[in-house]
Amino acid sequence: MPKKILIVEDDRTSRTLLSKVLIKYGYQTIEANNGVQALEKIQKVNPDLIFMDINMPMKDGITTLAEIRKSETFSDIPVIMLTARSDKKTVAKAIELGAVDFLVKPLDTKIVLKKVESFGNAKIEKSWENLKPIQQKMLRLSVASMQNSLKCVEDGKPLPYEEIKETCSYLVESVVDGDVQSLLDAVHGHDNGTFVHSLRVAAILGSFANFKGLDKQDTLEVVTGGMLHDMGKSKIPLTVLNKPGRLNEDEFKIMRMHAEYTMDILRKSPGITSNMVEIGGRHHERMDGTGYPRGLKGEDIGTLGAMAAIADAFEALTAKRPYKNPIPGDESLKIMKSWDGHLDPVLLSQFSDLIHKGL
Ligand SMILES: [Fe+2]
Ligand SMILES: [Fe+2]
Repeated sequence: MPKKILIVEDDRTSRTLLSKVLIKYGYQTIEANNGVQALEKIQKVNPDLIFMDINMPMKDGITTLAEIRKSETFSDIPVIMLTARSDKKTVAKAIELGAVDFLVKPLDTKIVLKKVESFGNAKIEKSWENLKPIQQKMLRLSVASMQNSLKCVEDGKPLPYEEIKETCSYLVESVVDGDVQSLLDAVHGHDNGTFVHSLRVAAILGSFANFKGLDKQDTLEVVTGGMLHDMGKSKIPLTVLNKPGRLNEDEFKIMRMHAEYTMDILRKSPGITSNMVEIGGRHHERMDGTGYPRGLKGEDIGTLGAMAAIADAFEALTAKRPYKNPIPGDESLKIMKSWDGHLDPVLLSQFSDLIHKGL
């Protein structure tokens, strides 16, 4: 299910504009034109995030926010206030009442999307409190280190290797304990698509390495490679990266460039090993040479590249996305086996044994 975002705004043009942007990026929006309507809609739909104007007829944003905070059921919903200008007193009042942030109109699409990404996950991140402390710590660290890594790429700096390694070492503990499935489930529905996919691939690939008998140190290298395997996606425009549904041919061409970008980013970052580059650069190569970016064949892909291709495909099939339901593990394996000549059959059969045993 896509995230539900409530937009409370009396100006119809601004409300529709914001709604259109959010729908374009795969969110579901609900609109209200004043505080009274907003409170009714909150009861009905229990949104994941609320954008709320301050000056509105009937019931203004500040009064509405105060009422939401008093509610037993809905007080945790993050509310971002919208204001025509930076009115310090009102902003201070809104923050005091528990608004998580405020945005000055006219809104900037890029900033809106960043806010949605950081605050739209409050419910999911809260549910992590039910996991083991080490898993909670790992998930919180990995969200932060993924955001930090993307920022480094944006600023043209090397990846924060030590931070990433620390996060991955906690993940290795779960892998060695055979306790990965709860992690895979815990991130379902989180908005940061690259974080979700990377973490799940890292966990699946780590379990595969552990199953094949790699020691803890080598498993850590594989897990780190999995966590970083799609870093190049940070260079892909959001309209392509977050497009709900299938990409057209031109968009797919742009998307495919992420594998080359990943290799470039990883090679420029101190601490990253050649095995990690192999995982990042070859997870889209196919045994029959039909993959990308190099069209490598058979043994030239290397064991780690071929294992990464299996973990990456399995993650994508079993993932819950705004536009698709997860496919069960058994069925996903059948689909992967039907891709004649794409995946290494020996590794795929070992992977199949792992899935049947349980991650
Ligand atoms: Fe990829
Ligand atoms: Fe991937």
